[in-house]
Amino acid sequence: MPNLIRRFSRLLLLSFLVLFSRQIAFADEGMWPPMLINSAIFEQMKAKGFLLTPESIYSTTNPSLKDAVVLFGRGCTAEIISNQGLLLTNHHCGHGQIQSHSTIQNDYLQNGFWAKNRQEELANPGLTISILVRMEDVTQQCEAGITPAMNPKEKNDLFAANVKKVAAKSTEGTHYQAQIRPFFGGLQQWLLVYETFQDIRLVGAPPNSIGKFGGDTDNWVWPRHTGDFCLFRIYAGKDNKPAAYSPDNVPYVPKKYLPVSTTGIKEGDFTMIVGYPGRTNEYLPSYALELVTKVSNPKKIALRTKRLDIINEAMRSSQLNRIKYSSTQADIANAWKKWQGESLGMMKADAIASKQKTEERYRAFFSQKGTEGKSYLDALEDLKNGYSQLTKLSIPAQYQGEAVTANDVYAIVNTTEKLLVRNPKQMDDATRAKKLADFKAIVRSVWKDTDPAVERALFEVTISAYRKDIPDDMHSGNFLKMLEKNPFDKGQFVKTYFDEGKWFDSVYVWKLAGKVLKGDSSSLMKNPTWQLFHTLDQQFNTVFLPAYQKINGGLEKSQQTFFTGLMEMDKSRTFYPDANSTFRVAFGNVAGYTAKDGVKYDWQTHTTGISEKADTELDFMMDPSLKKKFADQNASKTGPVPVAFIASNHSTGGNSGSPVLNAKGELIGVNFDRVWEGTMSDYYFDSRICRNITCDIRYILWVIENVGNSQHLVKEMELR
Ligand code: ARG
Ligand code: GLU
Repeated sequence: MPNLIRRFSRLLLLSFLVLFSRQIAFADEGMWPPMLINSAIFEQMKAKGFLLTPESIYSTTNPSLKDAVVLFGRGCTAEIISNQGLLLTNHHCGHGQIQSHSTIQNDYLQNGFWAKNRQEELANPGLTISILVRMEDVTQQCEAGITPAMNPKEKNDLFAANVKKVAAKSTEGTHYQAQIRPFFGGLQQWLLVYETFQDIRLVGAPPNSIGKFGGDTDNWVWPRHTGDFCLFRIYAGKDNKPAAYSPDNVPYVPKKYLPVSTTGIKEGDFTMIVGYPGRTNEYLPSYALELVTKVSNPKKIALRTKRLDIINEAMRSSQLNRIKYSSTQADIANAWKKWQGESLGMMKADAIASKQKTEERYRAFFSQKGTEGKSYLDALEDLKNGYSQLTKLSIPAQYQGEAVTANDVYAIVNTTEKLLVRNPKQMDDATRAKKLADFKAIVRSVWKDTDPAVERALFEVTISAYRKDIPDDMHSGNFLKMLEKNPFDKGQFVKTYFDEGKWFDSVYVWKLAGKVLKGDSSSLMKNPTWQLFHTLDQQFNTVFLPAYQKINGGLEKSQQTFFTGLMEMDKSRTFYPDANSTFRVAFGNVAGYTAKDGVKYDWQTHTTGISEKADTELDFMMDPSLKKKFADQNASKTGPVPVAFIASNHSTGGNSGSPVLNAKGELIGVNFDRVWEGTMSDYYFDSRICRNITCDIRYILWVIENVGNSQHLVKEMELR
């Protein structure tokens, strides 16, 4: 080869490598709204193996994935897997429903639940699923008429009026619901139109020893052996449209359902996750990450540890408490463990240093630009100052949730207070009776899932942490006076503010509610628990929240400018908006990872691993007959069944229950978690270690057939 050509080709290779390494840095990162899949992103998908088109993901004219992948309840994803509205999601997403149907006699958490036929499928009042009809950028309509000359209130008012108009117009003459959501930190507004179904019935759930196998010990950790799935069914009116629950409703016939792949996967295969990821913060400056890892995570973790000690002990010693606290415990423990992994992961991946490097580059880039760069540089300075001011307010603001309203007794007090109306005399008897009945239903539902002694102990640890973790000079004078008169150390505080409140005494609470409904609030206001919560609420609403909002509101604007600057600086990169519980896809490949020096994880687990873990710890306890089923399967001719696999899909909370699809759009599993080293991906995605964990569809089918004995459900599906 002539020298010149050789030199030229080396140059080409070099520039290719430079280009390529930038691609690698972002490879797999991103949760894409379908309309942002431009040709560059689509090329990346194809390079990874994707065989379909963007229109197969989202189309308003033809059936597409958006018609089969739905928003489940308040924050999970589910997918339709038959032409009779059969829905697949995570066990932990249906956990609340499974718990609500469970009693000591019929403990579906412990034993599983399998409807043998349609009549046995169980209704779930309050549970809805939403199917996306369409989504579009409506920034211009929302900002119509807003001029720089307007003051903030005028701007806000016009904006709110525009939003209302756009939403109303988009659903005119339909039974749909519209939502308008900020994207890219508020730089854009998008319209989302949904069709919402209200009759969603429980079809099947494995026992906890499968659906929650490994519990908190294995949560957020790989290798994993949880069969984290359960089945529901969407019911509709005879016209196939949403309808309130009725025994006459019929299974919904979807526009599209997902075919199921039984052929298996191998390392490197293309994978795609579709669903409703909740919230990420990928574009925050280093200062925000410092606040999260050094201040807010450690404090919140410590307080939740105390609460969990109490709840776990209560659940260990009573089957009734095990049912009562099942969902509460899972919720508290889930974030508690995630925050620990998140802080660790950010330290290990040097996330703060990496953000600092980007900020150095940003400062250098905009310093060169003279006056044009000034606002960008100012924005980063504002963020630096803002986050330092927020440091002091972060715990007071977050403890309103973590330490005050986290108490179930707070919910009862608050529900009672809501009975107060402005003109009680004008209320007719029927309305009053209805209000009282609704009130009783809510309070009974709180009592059903709580135990007074446990609540008392939780009250004590949360309120004393509130006292201790918030600096002296930030507490309200009233609260300090209460503590002076009734200190914690002599047990006097809890006696006065919990016991004497009598919120678990039905005779007292019903009588009190009756008075409040008639407009007589005097007894409520004499109630010590009410007085305490009222004081803490006031401190929050009049001091902590306004101070927090004042700083945070300023930060929002600076964050937008900072983000615009990042885009300006990296013009060749396609940016994706942070997750906001809207329809997204993320793509990647089946892949193991190196967790630390000398530790490399494989990408798949099997039923042999279940047998290895079974009965080794409380979180792995298993009924002998079930244990035998696994042993038999492992020794059988067909051999061990694949249980879970990991892939490099960018996912977050809300992606629970999301379908994981192969290159042809066939279902290969249900997403349910992330790996320990990669839980920091909500702030910082590192494709070397961030992995989502998926329950393999072949295991799900095996459990439905062999544990649920529900072959009829498998027959409904389209197996490929
Ligand atoms: N970590 C998963 C998620 O974020 C699973 C949680 C359910 N399991 C549990 N042990 N709490 O939702
Ligand atoms: N388990 C999570 C959820 O409930 C999904 C895992 C994650 O946060 O990545 O959505």
